[in-house]
Amino acid sequence: MLLATACLAAAAAFAYAAPASDKAPPPVATASFGRAGDRNVEIYTLSSAHGIEARIMTYGATLVSLKTPDRAGRMQNVVLGFDTLEPYLAGVPYFGASVGRFANRIANGRFTLDGKTYQLPRNDGPNSLHGGTRGFDKRVWSAEQLESPGGPAVRLTYVSAAGEEGYPGELTAHVTYGLGSDNALTIEFEATTTAATPVNLANHAYFNLSGDPRRTILDHLIAISADRFTPVDATLIPTGELRPVAGTAFDFRRPQAIGSRIADNDEQLRLGHGYDHNWVLNQPGPGVATVAAVLTDPHSGREMEVRTTQPGLQFYTGNFLDGKPAGAGSVFSYRTGLCLETQHFPDSPNQPAFPATILRPGQRFSATTVLTFRVVK
Ligand code: GLA
Repeated sequence: MLLATACLAAAAAFAYAAPASDKAPPPVATASFGRAGDRNVEIYTLSSAHGIEARIMTYGATLVSLKTPDRAGRMQNVVLGFDTLEPYLAGVPYFGASVGRFANRIANGRFTLDGKTYQLPRNDGPNSLHGGTRGFDKRVWSAEQLESPGGPAVRLTYVSAAGEEGYPGELTAHVTYGLGSDNALTIEFEATTTAATPVNLANHAYFNLSGDPRRTILDHLIAISADRFTPVDATLIPTGELRPVAGTAFDFRRPQAIGSRIADNDEQLRLGHGYDHNWVLNQPGPGVATVAAVLTDPHSGREMEVRTTQPGLQFYTGNFLDGKPAGAGSVFSYRTGLCLETQHFPDSPNQPAFPATILRPGQRFSATTVLTFRVVK
């Protein structure tokens, strides 16, 4: 159980920046990260004594940086992000953000629920992407510090008004980021609603385990525990087929270098401009946590295991990264980051055979993803 320790907030304000020589950093530190319109944006730093450090800001409930050790013990940031708020306000492709109300695409921005048809903003060709024009990634969330027996945590909350971005019902969404003593970052989403609505919540971090975002991610190895994936049409909407990965460039049941087949003459790779697809995770049952993927960077020795209760994994190889926006010293170019978005399948509200994404009053949506870091020789 997580216990609120709000009193830490006042005491901690950036104390970790100049810790007394032999003192460990405080588990949670908070500081101002600027202003979005008339709202203050805060940044929280979670530290585990010998392990990883995560920074989370209230704009978009965004994972801004995540430092983990390489095989020499060197701490480096393994997610794409900026040191200041401005580039995020100018517009970034969901760097580290909490994406909602519906992560991924809804065909033609339209769905029918309980006999009523809803039209959402079309912000990605004909489709609605990642919650619309101003999704949860562009909202200021409230935050409270928590401390669980396992380690420090921050819980962020956003209340999405009924009708916002075209969705029915007032949705209360929470995301809790927590560090364990085992070099793991846990990301837990929860939601409740006042009227039936589609819900799909996901973190959109771009990983580059080398710690050097000038390198591409093509030499990272990835294993994905999925026997099937959802092929797409030209607008990246699933066709509805659950296609076996066997014998295709989508078979990552054994670790493969990401770049080894990405340029294959394959219709699905052409449509995705590389990998930008949902894998159907092998799960013993709905909501049962399983290892979805293992990502390894042979260069730094960093390895990340992704465990999740979610049924799907959108593996996206940064095919639309083009170096913009550029922050101070940061240029994020083509394929210098990859996303592992644990989530429900794209366009689920229009695909009755996919796992259901409709949340109704009285129900509670909950999904947990755990990123565990280790090093390999
Ligand atoms: C998701 C989508 C991609 C792209 C990125 C943001 O991962 O699947 O096609 O839109 O978000 O650039």
